[in-house]
Amino acid sequence: MTAQEAQKRITELVEKINYYNQKYFQEHISEISNYEFDMLLAELIRLENEFPQFKAEDSPTQRIGGTITKEFPTVKHTYPMLSLANTYTEADVKDFDERVKRFLNTSEPIEYVCELKFDGVSISLIYENGIFKQAITRGDGLQGDDVSPNIKTIRTLPLKIKGENFPLRFEVRGEIFIPKKQFEKLNQEREDIGETLFANARNTASGTIKLQDSAEVARRGLDAYLYGLLGENLPFQTHYEALQALEQWGFQVSKTYRLCRNIEEVLEYLHEWEHKRHHLPVETDGVVIKVNSFALQNELGTTAKAPRWAIAYKYKAETASTVLESITYQVGRTGAITPVAELKPVQLGGTIVKRASLHNANEIERLGLRIGDTVFVEKGGEIIPKVTGIDLSKRPAESMPLQYITHCPECATPLIRKEGEAVHYCPNEKGCPPQIKGKIEHFVQRKAMNISSLGEKIIEQLYQAKLIKNIADLYDLRLEELLSLERMGEKLATKILMNIQESKSIPFERVLFALGIRFVGVTVAQKLAEYFGSIEKLQNATLTQLLQVPEIGEKIAESVIAYFQDKDNWQIVERLQKAGLQFAMKNVVKERKSNALSGLSFVISGVFEQFSREALKEEIEKNGGKVLSGISSKVNFLVAGSEAGPSKLEKAQKLGIKVISEQEFLELLKQ
Ligand code: IVH
Repeated sequence: MTAQEAQKRITELVEKINYYNQKYFQEHISEISNYEFDMLLAELIRLENEFPQFKAEDSPTQRIGGTITKEFPTVKHTYPMLSLANTYTEADVKDFDERVKRFLNTSEPIEYVCELKFDGVSISLIYENGIFKQAITRGDGLQGDDVSPNIKTIRTLPLKIKGENFPLRFEVRGEIFIPKKQFEKLNQEREDIGETLFANARNTASGTIKLQDSAEVARRGLDAYLYGLLGENLPFQTHYEALQALEQWGFQVSKTYRLCRNIEEVLEYLHEWEHKRHHLPVETDGVVIKVNSFALQNELGTTAKAPRWAIAYKYKAETASTVLESITYQVGRTGAITPVAELKPVQLGGTIVKRASLHNANEIERLGLRIGDTVFVEKGGEIIPKVTGIDLSKRPAESMPLQYITHCPECATPLIRKEGEAVHYCPNEKGCPPQIKGKIEHFVQRKAMNISSLGEKIIEQLYQAKLIKNIADLYDLRLEELLSLERMGEKLATKILMNIQESKSIPFERVLFALGIRFVGVTVAQKLAEYFGSIEKLQNATLTQLLQVPEIGEKIAESVIAYFQDKDNWQIVERLQKAGLQFAMKNVVKERKSNALSGLSFVISGVFEQFSREALKEEIEKNGGKVLSGISSKVNFLVAGSEAGPSKLEKAQKLGIKVISEQEFLELLKQ
């Protein structure tokens, strides 16, 4: 390839990938498969390595991460990053309006912009000639850390400004956060691999932007909302216009901002969002109220800490006080001990709270908890309520400092606490009932072997009846044994056996995840399965070989080695192999049946009679068609079964895309 050809292809690839990225991350539409996307990206990486002179500053390869920063350079802020004065009552908000008017010497109503106060970490972004240059943390307000490689991993952030009408140099201020759903997903993944959970999204976001490894940052899934524009001679008179411009330039601005003509409208906004805010994808803790006119903002100026033209109104965290009756200790699948506060039932934010998480021994110590104490409980967003403090004035005279347990509450084994870890563990992996049941629950879950009919209760019954004590025992279960359980009917028993039977075709990577090797979550299992191809190869792999697998570090490698050093685990794997589970990757070469659907793109929605959705997808691909996940103008047909998604149907109608039934699809195949 000549340099000229390379340059042309690189430009083409950058445009294409940026286009698909924008569709995917801002409009949630995938117009091509993950595989095709990865191929485009791989081609771009290859060409950029070969012809580095053509690597664009806004190249999407910048977003993948992979930069290991030794430490972050400190940078002075051009405009200091101030904080906001907090208010907690409507009276305070009215006072603020009065203060503004007095300062400006006017009795005319003041126009404000209301925005939600996102609970994340503030960031300042610098753009020059329309290209992203630098991202700086708040730091002490005057100088912060240059965390650009980490911030570039945020897919919704434009590396290049859209349109032409922008100032040569400007700064954008905003909030970096981890969306609620993503936070749950991260914690779910941590639970799967037996890691302690992140306590809250804000602190996780804050820790994430300071990580030295931007590939890990990319995996954490940060996002950003922008809410401020700064620069010299900006062509706008108001904050509202500036927000609209930010949107047009391709920044993600939360759609929740509103122009209010006076303070009464501000109060309406506060009421409106008090409960509605819980349905937003990000945690919020209040509203920011800003004077709209830039001229008035200038006139008002700032104090040393905060602008006079803006305040934060914080919603009251829902708290209640109640009595701590006892502490119980839960033992997880990996043996991790979680202390739980058992409370005198109390109303909190519309629900009755009886229990609250205490995380670990350090947390109990930090709070200085004693049984009988009156404690404050708070609900942060929709997470489990937590104990935030103690009302010492109500402490019973006879109360004693708490002693954390030293032995497992389930099997009486002495607990261990690894150096530097906050959590206690029960090391009796093979004899401690909740650990045994937990491993089986992990094995049958949907993401693993998908034996969905085996719920927690039935596992408990089977375990009590001594019918199962490890995952391999599941494959020896017989109908009579199941029927011997209380309240077990023939229908359910048959279904369980069928699900167990069906699980034998679950692919290797999921079986590997299901085994429950510590630190081997879904993604790691996939990587190991692809790299080694079979359980034999993995079993025999040395530490050095394991460390060669992309993204596998020492902690995981050592855990895999330890798992296979245990003879009992060998035996279980052997029994599962004999039972017929998949312990090697299948080379899935899909043979083409016909070209009947060649060049056509489909979206599938609903439930079908003759096909499972997976099978329908395969049928389309085998006949030369493509299956896309979202409706866009590129789609030719929406195959709609019963219970097809109404939003998909509506969108298809709007775009004039043909909606066909399963029957019509079969007709199409015959043509
Ligand atoms: S404006 C000069 N708008 O709240 C003040 N801040 O307590 C500039 N925050 O450091 C901030 N949402 O991290 C503004 N819509 C919003 C915000 C917001 C969250 C954070 C921001 C700031 C802190 C101030």
